[in-house]
Amino acid sequence: NWTTGNVIDEQVAAIRELVGDKRAICGLSGGVDSAVAAALVQKAIGSQLTCVYVDHGLMRKGETEQVEKDFVAATGVQLKVVDAEERFLKALAGVSDPEQKRKIIGREFIRVFEQAQAEIIADEGPAVEFLVQGTLYPDVVESGGGTGTANIKSHHNVGGLPEDLEFQLIEPLRQLFKDEVRMVGQELGLPEEIVHRQPFPGPGLGIRIVGEVTKERLDLLREADAIAREELTAAGLDRDIWQCPVVLLADVRSVGVQGDGRTYGHPIVLRPVSSEDAMTADWSRLPYDVLAKISTRITNEVRDVNRVVLDVTSKPPGTIEWE
Ligand code: XMP
Repeated sequence: NWTTGNVIDEQVAAIRELVGDKRAICGLSGGVDSAVAAALVQKAIGSQLTCVYVDHGLMRKGETEQVEKDFVAATGVQLKVVDAEERFLKALAGVSDPEQKRKIIGREFIRVFEQAQAEIIADEGPAVEFLVQGTLYPDVVESGGGTGTANIKSHHNVGGLPEDLEFQLIEPLRQLFKDEVRMVGQELGLPEEIVHRQPFPGPGLGIRIVGEVTKERLDLLREADAIAREELTAAGLDRDIWQCPVVLLADVRSVGVQGDGRTYGHPIVLRPVSSEDAMTADWSRLPYDVLAKISTRITNEVRDVNRVVLDVTSKPPGTIEWE
């Protein structure tokens, strides 16, 4: 008889038994899966768990604070935050190619994570023998299934596992589907914004800027994205859409008229989609008045943006993200 309470009790007992008096590490991405996995393990072994959060500077407005403050407050977890924004920006400087960006972000992420890991291992205390991963049942099926699906983009999971790791894995969500993971998270008292967060790619806003990634562009996109999310939430649409990437076309300019004069600014693309599993998707038919509100606010409030456009492409042929 499946209940979230049973799942939690069983996992907590199993993890305690497995870990004994050793230590474990868990990478947090800000996403639901790693958060719930970490919260479960924290419930089982408390301070024997250390979480690592790599701030790559590519998160949306407020997301890092959500992990640093709200998640820690809700779970009491021991958290090591690495501020690596400068390092990532430096590595991304001058790069516009999407696959190149993904590779750089993935590579830097693993380097920073491994360094944090090494520091934790070097700390006083019992041996670190375990690594916690938020692997879900569909991930298990997908990787073991060998369906031969073409890997269209190099997917990178923040909290991803370096190839040559000598840890034992703890994967407490291996038997669960996403909705079950959310229920477990809720039962564990995690913040609503984390439990119901929509999918967000590991490489973050780095792949939502078409063109080179710079701090200025990231700040601009963060503002536009925050406005879109705020209005979608205010309109009660969060549960209706799968996710809504907001994309900055940094290499494109168009003429506009704002205030007293001509402007030559960048377009922002809204990409709201409906989907069951992200393998296929359709563009969401959002109410016009919500789109109008988002457009008006973004062009009024975000400097250098003078146009908002709506992506009306399904997947396929378009992927959900632009890069
Ligand atoms: P696409 O753009 O391939 O996206 O249609 C499908 C889903 O995957 C997300 N996505 C990623 N998630 N690391 C992730 O963890 C990635 O590198 C990555 N790339 C895309 C995307 O947001 C959508 O939900």
